[in-house]
Order: sequence, then C-alpha cells, then structure tokens
Amino acid sequence: MSLIERWRRRLPVTRRTPVVSLGEGDTPLIRADRLAQAAGLEPGSVFLKFEGTNPTGSFKDRGMTMAMSKALEQGCRGVLCASTGNTAASASAYAAKAGLRCVVFLPRGAVALGKLMQAVMHGAEIVEVAGNFDAALKTALRIADEQGFTVVNSSNPFRIEGQKTAAFEVAEALGRSPDFQFMPVGNAGNITAYWKGYKELGGRRPRMMGFQAAGAAPLVLGRPVPAPRTVATAIRIGDPYSRAGALAARDESGGLIGSVTDAQILASYRFLAREEGVFCEPASAAGVAGLLKVCRAGRGPRGTVVCVLTGHGLKDPGTAARFSPRRRAFAPGRRFEL
Ligand code: F0G
Repeated sequence: MSLIERWRRRLPVTRRTPVVSLGEGDTPLIRADRLAQAAGLEPGSVFLKFEGTNPTGSFKDRGMTMAMSKALEQGCRGVLCASTGNTAASASAYAAKAGLRCVVFLPRGAVALGKLMQAVMHGAEIVEVAGNFDAALKTALRIADEQGFTVVNSSNPFRIEGQKTAAFEVAEALGRSPDFQFMPVGNAGNITAYWKGYKELGGRRPRMMGFQAAGAAPLVLGRPVPAPRTVATAIRIGDPYSRAGALAARDESGGLIGSVTDAQILASYRFLAREEGVFCEPASAAGVAGLLKVCRAGRGPRGTVVCVLTGHGLKDPGTAARFSPRRRAFAPGRRFEL
C-alpha cells in the first residue's frame, strides 16, 4: 500500500488528489543488540529505523510522494529542488512517475555518485552550481519563484507532512513512541517532520537528539557556517532552512542538537555494516555516532532508543571504497586455505 493510502486520514489529501507513489514507507525497525552493547545499554533497547529500503534508497521518498501528488493536483509547470543528492534522486524518480519536468540544482563535485546516477537515469535536468548546497538552495528558491516551478525541497510543507509518517510507523512498531530518538540533521526538515508526527500522535514523546557533522554544525554553533565540511556530503549544509523547526523539536522535547566528528561518523558507519548487517550512508551514521558519544560521556539515555538511518550505503560507493580490505588472489585449480 502507498504511504498516502496507509496514512490518508492524517495527511492533507482528498479523493481528488492524484497519488504519485512508488511504494514508499513501511521501512523496517531493526533491533540492534550489538549497538546497544557498544553503547552500554540493555539488550532490546536500541532499534534502527532503516530508511534505505525506500524506493530510491532514502527517507526523502516519504515527503516526495506527498509533494509530487500535490504538485500534480495543483497543475504545476514542473518541479525543482536544490540537493546534496538524495532529494534530487527522489524528486527525479517521482517526477518521472508523475510525468513532470524536474530540474535539480546540485553543488558541483559534492554529490555522491549513486545519487547523481539516479538523477541521470530518471531524466532530471541537472544544473551544477559553483558553490555549496546553501548557495544552490537560495538560487533554486529564487528561480522557482520567478518562473512558476514548484519547489520540492523541505521548504514545501507537503514534504514535512509525508515525512512525519515515519514517526507513526516507529510508534506502531514499538507499540508506543520511543523514549529517545537519535538522527542526523542537515537542512533540518526531517527532525521537524518527526517531531510533528510524534506530537500528532499524542501520549509520551521522545526526546529528540539531532546530530550534525562537526565541520557543518550551524545549529550547535548558533550561526551559519559559510564553508561547511564533512565526509557526510548529505549533511554538508551551513545554513539550514528548517532551523526553527529543529530548535523547537530540541527545546519542546528536552532533547539536544550536538555534533560528531567525521572520524566518529565513519566509525559508526563501519560498525553498523559489520556488526549489525545494515549498510547505511555516512550521514545516516551521525545519529548512531551521537548515541555512542553521549553514552561514552556517561550521559546515556534510559528507555527505548530509536536511531534513524536515513539513506542506503549504496548511495555513496566512493566512501565505502575507502575501506578496501586485504584481498587474496586465487588461480582456479589450486588449493585454497580458508
Ligand atoms: N541523511 C541523509 C541521507 C540526507 O540525504 C539528508 C538530507 C539528511 C540526513 C538530513 O536531513 O536535511 O532533513 O535534516 N539531504 C538533503 C538532500 C539535504 O538534498 O538530499 P534534513
């Protein structure tokens, strides 16, 4: 069932909304006992919400099914976004399905290969911006406004509506909302959306623990970062659009927005793949790195913890290739000792 059909009562759609779906949502919540052990927490207390199983391999599809359906309903000329890669991949696929023109503004040289290839294959018009994501977003918003294209970044409120359904799924799988949620923060739409979802559910709400990369941590520093740097290109963002939403999620939930270093991100990325069997992209591991960081500082959470893994590891083969293991050669016909 499509995400819109599944959660129709909680979404701003009508019977007349043409549903553009690729079968998004309904992603697994995976019990992670080795991670719990590494964090010094009880077995059965830590879960991974793996969004990499969405149709284009990231959580963006939840928002994109809503944004594209509403764009079609409203009769738009075409859709446009700026992106560090995943929004572009998702917009390209859903626009292809909807039969809409799609233009993606990408920071030149800063998008992981898998994401770029998705945009290429889905037939998006690709604009390479000489500058970072923040520059690309400002440009995209201005051009869309001038020329009547629908923006499908998380500035589009329908994106947030679609993405809040992930909170509904987590609560459904656990039988209630978790006590803590750890997740990466980039442009800050996703933490805004989860918090909206948990609030709409009512009852006890999790403390929202968002993590930025140390070289791209404007919400931690309290000011924009003009030249953000991190291996996690998905969250290489210096001036998040949904800053206010992220800070409200933090403050209303009694949570935290912290930062983790690239070394901590890569260590968690590798740990999840090797110890939990879950291959996420580097940015996705920032929430897990945050969990390990607070636990090692003796400020670990109590109760049920969910870590959101936002995208699939196959998105970014370049970073995975850094972990090239020792390989053995084999000539067929010869004996081989394991
Ligand atoms: N994780 C991944 C894999 C992402 O692609 C993003 C954002 C985030 C986390 C952060 O989510 O922006 O809602 O705080 N990617 C955007 C993009 C910016 O263009 O694909 P956020």
